[in-house]
Amino acid sequence: MENEKIIELKNIVFSYGNFKAIDNVTLDIGKGIYGLLGPNGAGKTTLMKVILGFLIPSSGSGTVLGYDITDSPLEVRKRIGYMPESDCLIPGMDAVGLTAYLGELSGMPRQEAIKRAHEVLYYVGLDESRYRKVETYSTGMKQRMKLAAALVHDPELLFLDEPTSGMDPQGRKEMLELINDIAAKGTMNIILSSHILADVEASCKHVLIMNKGKIISEQDIATALNMGALNIIELKLNGDAAAFKEKMAAYKMEQDDKGVYRIHLPADFPLQSLFKTAYDSKVQIRHFRKSKVTLEDAFVTAIGKGDANAH
Ligand SMILES: Nc1ncnc2c1ncn2[C@@H]1O[C@H](COP(=O)(O)OP(=O)(O)OP(=O)(O)O)[C@@H](O)[C@H]1O
Ligand SMILES: [Mg+2]
Repeated sequence: MENEKIIELKNIVFSYGNFKAIDNVTLDIGKGIYGLLGPNGAGKTTLMKVILGFLIPSSGSGTVLGYDITDSPLEVRKRIGYMPESDCLIPGMDAVGLTAYLGELSGMPRQEAIKRAHEVLYYVGLDESRYRKVETYSTGMKQRMKLAAALVHDPELLFLDEPTSGMDPQGRKEMLELINDIAAKGTMNIILSSHILADVEASCKHVLIMNKGKIISEQDIATALNMGALNIIELKLNGDAAAFKEKMAAYKMEQDDKGVYRIHLPADFPLQSLFKTAYDSKVQIRHFRKSKVTLEDAFVTAIGKGDANAH
């Protein structure tokens, strides 16, 4: 079923003390691979923990794979693999022992868990180090180990919280390749949280943008990049650009080191009025073209809008 809902949340609120970390989130997630993108402190990790049933929302409701997040957290967790952001490795255990142990905690019989531990450690590239104590692992190896642990019980849904965190460029590339490989198999649904745009762009089909406890945008990556909602124009100006910039002050405008301006305009902005504004400002437009919208542009625009709505 293509349209099957994997996660359904309704009006979820979660607070740490007085601080609302999740602010009335309503969300439907279908099959596939989703990026959860947002700046530090947006609430990505908290949202994952609420969905996993580790944190109990103060209001709202939700289901994951058909199970209620507050009534059936164990059923939920059996079916979710979670690669946490923080270290969750138990010192003194080797990778095989720890992965198998975590498999057992997810309900696997011991022998099966051991067998699968070997398989997933091989898959993430740790087979040669699988009998080493996990505390001796490098950061990159720890990330791989955490991915293996999240995969051991063959979950239907995988939560990856900042999977490339602390990895060097080669390790990051390999981690993203693993994630793409898992996604390509098509049997696991994935939610990948990151504040790194390139990671999300490299592997996800859909993107959820989160800021200040709210989901502020939900789109296909392709749509986000195509951005019906955003039009970025590159311009070179001849003459005194100050007056032009002042008249266009309502729009985000940046200038690169070659002097080319990029103006972020709404899609329905009448482009001829740019020329009129230039004329009125006594500047000439020397170079004019539509710029490629990057996920970063989409992200910045969405966050800007979210902030505007919050005030
Ligand atoms: N245990 C806690 N007690 C109090 N406040 C917390 C706690 N954990 C998180 N917060 C606050 O809740 C907000 C959301 O935090 P969260 O860790 O979910 O964000 P995040 O999007 O995962 O950020 P990051 O990209 O840094 O991982 C932040 O403002 C954070 O300071
Ligand atoms: Mg986090």
